[in-house]
Amino acid sequence: MPSSQSYDVLIIGSGGAGLSLALKLADQAMRIAVLSKFALTAGSTYYAQGGISAVFDADDSIESHIDDTLDAGAGLCDPEIVRLTVTHGKKSIDWLQQQGVVFTEEKSPSGEIKLHLNREGGHSHRRVVHNADATGKAVSLSLIERAQEHPNIDLLEHHNVVELITRSNDNQQGKRVVGAYVLDSKQQIVKTMPAGIVVLATGGASKVYLYSTNPQSSTGDGIALAWRAGCRVSNMEFMQFHPTCLYHPSAQSFLISEAVRGEGGKLILPDGSSFMQNFDPRGELAPRDIVARAIDHEIKKRGIDCVYLDISHKPAEFIREHFPTIYQQCLDVGIDITQQPIPVVPAAHYTCGGVITDSFARTDIAQLYAVGEVACTGLHGANRMASNSLLECLVFAERASEDILQTLNTIPAIPALPDWDESQVSDSDEEVVVAHNWHELRQFMWDYVGIVRTDKRLHRAMNRVELLKKEITEYYRHFRVTSDLLELRNLLIVAELIIRCAQHRKESRGLHYTLDYPELDNSKPPQNTILVPDNIRA
Ligand code: FAD
Ligand code: SIN
Repeated sequence: MPSSQSYDVLIIGSGGAGLSLALKLADQAMRIAVLSKFALTAGSTYYAQGGISAVFDADDSIESHIDDTLDAGAGLCDPEIVRLTVTHGKKSIDWLQQQGVVFTEEKSPSGEIKLHLNREGGHSHRRVVHNADATGKAVSLSLIERAQEHPNIDLLEHHNVVELITRSNDNQQGKRVVGAYVLDSKQQIVKTMPAGIVVLATGGASKVYLYSTNPQSSTGDGIALAWRAGCRVSNMEFMQFHPTCLYHPSAQSFLISEAVRGEGGKLILPDGSSFMQNFDPRGELAPRDIVARAIDHEIKKRGIDCVYLDISHKPAEFIREHFPTIYQQCLDVGIDITQQPIPVVPAAHYTCGGVITDSFARTDIAQLYAVGEVACTGLHGANRMASNSLLECLVFAERASEDILQTLNTIPAIPALPDWDESQVSDSDEEVVVAHNWHELRQFMWDYVGIVRTDKRLHRAMNRVELLKKEITEYYRHFRVTSDLLELRNLLIVAELIIRCAQHRKESRGLHYTLDYPELDNSKPPQNTILVPDNIRA
């Protein structure tokens, strides 16, 4: 059966995190594979709009960026990690420019050309470097181009990781990773891919919810893979809902960037009245958890389908220049944003929790790293501040590359690995089970584990997860793996981890809001929610 060539570094994910790491390592003459389960542009990175936070403005400072991040994180950010990340902001932007990424510029009154900076929620200064409203596309396409040019990088599309392969760590306690089983979904075969180092750069898990701004790929695979392999996972209750996703039947998952509010966009009710001032003195530019909850509250209280975001008071030319993608996408569904408000609803957007890593992106398993949205580094705490995540991808790719370059020569030889065993399975004759369970999972996660939670709703959701897990485990035992089955199996684990973390937190903090404990628990220092898999010493 198909065994792949062996790689020095196997990077699972071709988003900002995975590709940055590959490029930072590739000149050191090692063999690197970057996998994407769909096309190379499949991840969230490609869709990022607002930009990347970094201190460039003369009135801004590193200390201010740190303070804003800590404030958004509601007591759970790791201050050392925040400082480390924020101080690498300018260097990260310089590196992207060296890779060919172009950012929007402006002319200062004195005629000097400088980066134009967006403003977004939670930031006390203009601090977001961007390429109009399609920053992710600019970043993605440049990084893919650089990686395609590099002789040491193999880019493998439609390669979906089924399981990590681990072995006991000879001289030390615990495990080490030695490769992965990977479904080549074009050829419909599972390959064995040995690797000295494996990096999870698989993005987030927002597709566990019915409504999400994320692309199809965000099914939390890296979190589930790491959990099954024996890594601790943290803070999964902090799923971030973006306040403004376009509400229109023929435009699923399209984000209306927070930068629209940064340029003066107002949130209004169907009668035209504004409401954010009733929830927070920062109004439209309060951190996301507050704005999303306020919108959710208004929608539920008034029984309306959506609220509206209005930027039409700005000159039409300004709107078209700053938000060309949003302008066009809305126009395509019949909404001229220079003339009329945009219907919006909150939708699942970002996974603040994830696989626990240290400041070099190392996980609990030797030679296994996690970089980007899949990881929980301590940067975001209970709520990620806008545009800090692409920055995190870049900074932790740099940190992981430093560590990998130091350790690569010390890694023990990879033992012979058995092929994937398909002797006990057949082709499925009941694909409907997967499709049905996908929908059911995402619907009850939205209804019971969404923006506002209660003990009762969490309990109901957990009962359903347990039922679905039984069904899918049975299905997995009998049928050949498909991409949809793998994603569903992973999403069920992620759903369970989110609910377990949410049940554990008996307070409301950051993105976790429960009617049963609506206040912060100030009786003890803020705690991360850390889950330990049963097999950690197996
Ligand atoms: P992704 O870019 O999501 O890439 C994941 C990769 O992993 C993909 O290649 C996928 O195919 C692959 N993959 C997943 N599972 C498997 C598997 N089992 N096997 C093989 N491959 C797999 N953040 C900001 O900082 N600024 C912004 O302006 C911004 N705007 C956003 C707008 C939108 C609409 C969205 C959805 C997110 C936005 N974010 C923004 C968040 C940010 O884009 C993401 O957090 C970040 O891009 C994640 O990068 P990543 O490399 O970790 O993962
Ligand atoms: C946006 O442009 O609103 C998204 C920014 C982010 O998620 O960081």
